[in-house]
Amino acid sequence: MGVKNVSEVTEQTWKDEVFPEWGTWLNEEIERTTVPNNKFMMWWLVNMGVWIKTDKQTSIAIDLWCGTGKTTHDKPDMSPRHQWSRLTGGRKIQPNLRSQPMVINPFAIHNLDALLVTHFHHDHIDMNVAAAVLQNTPDTVPFIGPKYVVKQWIDWGVPKERCQVVKPGDTINVADIEISVTDSFDRSVLITDPDSDDLPDDATIPEMDDRAVNYVIKTDAGTIYDAADSHYSAYFAKHGQDFNIDVALVAYGENPVGVQDKMTSVDVLRAAESLNTSVVIPLHWDVWTNMLGNPNEIETLWKMRKERFDYKFHPFLWLPGGRFTYPDDQDKLQYYHDRGFEDRYSHPINLPYKSFL
Ligand SMILES: [Fe+2]
Ligand SMILES: [Fe+2]
Repeated sequence: MGVKNVSEVTEQTWKDEVFPEWGTWLNEEIERTTVPNNKFMMWWLVNMGVWIKTDKQTSIAIDLWCGTGKTTHDKPDMSPRHQWSRLTGGRKIQPNLRSQPMVINPFAIHNLDALLVTHFHHDHIDMNVAAAVLQNTPDTVPFIGPKYVVKQWIDWGVPKERCQVVKPGDTINVADIEISVTDSFDRSVLITDPDSDDLPDDATIPEMDDRAVNYVIKTDAGTIYDAADSHYSAYFAKHGQDFNIDVALVAYGENPVGVQDKMTSVDVLRAAESLNTSVVIPLHWDVWTNMLGNPNEIETLWKMRKERFDYKFHPFLWLPGGRFTYPDDQDKLQYYHDRGFEDRYSHPINLPYKSFL
């Protein structure tokens, strides 16, 4: 902190000192970690944001979002075309305050091989992240997403030649990572208008493939299925047949009354069983104050059901900012942050008497 006297403190010096809450701690951890052979590592960047790093040190970020939710009561009502207006018939703004600290500084990202986004909801695509990637990473880093994601980037000024439109059925390669693009089952995005002049009328069902995709990320050490904001779908079972999935990332949350948006705890288990994954990691439950999930519910339900249905998977309860290493952590049920103090007694203790202890 450069400020030494209260007379120098301003709202701006406070913001500069405190925000982002984790500073560059996680950026440094990701950048300084060398992933050993035959492993991959992931970091949870809040909401559906994940960083994946392979044993060839290839890094991709998916749905990295560094924004916020409501910050004031003084907002106009939702428009009649807002997805929650359409779904609930209400107009009152939802009290969705961001519930997590900013765990990564997008402007301190330097080593990235691709930025991928699953859909254009503004808790998945972020103008600040796009600007930071353009400013501080090589100009070879592609921006990858479905049609309306790319349209959003281009509208924000991302050069068209940096963008790559993908749709289900496509396969793309980022160094040693192969990414299969698959169907999304995100019914919420079907009632959300993208910034576009050619919007469908109310009775028309829009084309999902233009709006949202899921990604299957294949590394030498294992395969990750990113379901993004997909709702539960019976067709997860087809994806479970088509791909050999080790770890599935799914969107879980507590839906307010009148809203159907995120998978419930039992949906998470059904999705995991259908995807035939070894590990399922619920995400998205952490971020909105009005939709906070309790992932312990998933673990409890899993214990109730695993013998009866002979589950071959287990849930992994993660924390934002946390790391997951595959296969090392494949049998873990819960994550806890580094507890530190591993160098205890490397120097003599210095206390008046040991009975302090
Ligand atoms: Fe979404
Ligand atoms: Fe979302």
